[in-house]
Amino acid sequence: MEAITFSKDTVLSDIHLRIHHKRQLMVRLNAVGQPVFQTQFKILWGNNVVEAASNKEGNRVGDEQESSLSRETALHDVQELEALLDEDGDLEVQRRPPTPSDKPESPACIRDVVCPTILRIGSEENCVEEASCNPEDVVKIEHTMATPLEDVGKQIWRGAFLLADYILWQQDLFRGCTALDLGAGTGFTSVIMATVAKTVYCTDVGEDLLDMCERNISLNKGLTKTGGQVKVKELDWLKNQLCRDPETLYSWTEDDVADLYDQTTVILAADVFYDDDLTDALFKTLYRITYALTRLCTIYLSIERRFNFTLRYMDITCDAYNHFRNCLNNFVKIDNGKLKWTATEIKPVFPQFFSYEREHLVGWFCFSTNLCK
Ligand SMILES: C[S@@+](CC[C@H](N)C(=O)[O-])C[C@H]1O[C@@H](n2cnc3c(N)ncnc32)[C@H](O)[C@@H]1O
Repeated sequence: MEAITFSKDTVLSDIHLRIHHKRQLMVRLNAVGQPVFQTQFKILWGNNVVEAASNKEGNRVGDEQESSLSRETALHDVQELEALLDEDGDLEVQRRPPTPSDKPESPACIRDVVCPTILRIGSEENCVEEASCNPEDVVKIEHTMATPLEDVGKQIWRGAFLLADYILWQQDLFRGCTALDLGAGTGFTSVIMATVAKTVYCTDVGEDLLDMCERNISLNKGLTKTGGQVKVKELDWLKNQLCRDPETLYSWTEDDVADLYDQTTVILAADVFYDDDLTDALFKTLYRITYALTRLCTIYLSIERRFNFTLRYMDITCDAYNHFRNCLNNFVKIDNGKLKWTATEIKPVFPQFFSYEREHLVGWFCFSTNLCK
């Protein structure tokens, strides 16, 4: 097989890059001819949970610090960047500390070239379970790899793991709730949420992606059988209305719409802040939806701080994160006479139920207060 080459606008999630276990199997080609892989992610219960920190209270930044957060973050960014540069201003590559997922690499594990094995077209039945694993402790996800930017949802991103960890850590908080997952991608976070929630509206755009998502929901029926149902729906942040056309796949029924607005108390959005226009559109969507909800709700966001060299500043910057922070600051300043939002950072120091690297990941939650009462 020839070495795989990546075109310059191709992105590869390090979730897939760093997986070197043997269970990443190519199972089929999707409707647009992309190879689809299935990866099994083990949930680390009991003694296997990685205790990232023991102090729950220490995880949170108080609300009173909100107004100065922007300045502090900017200062922190500069200090963090300076620490990465040598005397001449060159970037010194920092080795990250070892994590539980770092097993010593045997020659068999080193993979320079992807050599996928096609097991069977269109079926997961030949994917043999790991003998030592309880099937209820494994999340099976079909995904593609190294996609162009417009198809990033077909890969799993680390932000999805961060929110999944938070849900598994705070299960009682989410038990029986109705949740809306925005930009759900492969549906990983929705699957985890469905282990405790009553209903999860798992939303994204594009029929091909939503097909993949639907398939992942059904692959994990065993995991969610004690929880609730997942409804895969189209929700495009660039559109002001939910699609209710019965002829369109993944459209909303009137009952779904009523249930969404009457029952939702939790909104999830994992790793969806990577393009400024989309970030603006997502915050508008958050405003529009939460304003129409009957109940108060909490929004859980995760974001990876991606550092890039930009020609605009001739420097390493964290543009997408900075834009997200500006939007968040504006969001909490909105005063519409009905709702007020408070944003709190969730430091990623809660236990880890999945094996992945948490560096540069941050979570935020925003909860609404009713001003009319
Ligand atoms: C980086 S992926 C994150 C996927 C998933 N949440 C995760 O963490 O693995 C960003 C997601 O935003 C979705 N997205 C992009 N533009 C969108 C839009 N206009 N409306 C809804 N979702 C959109 C993409 O399809 C993709 O699934």
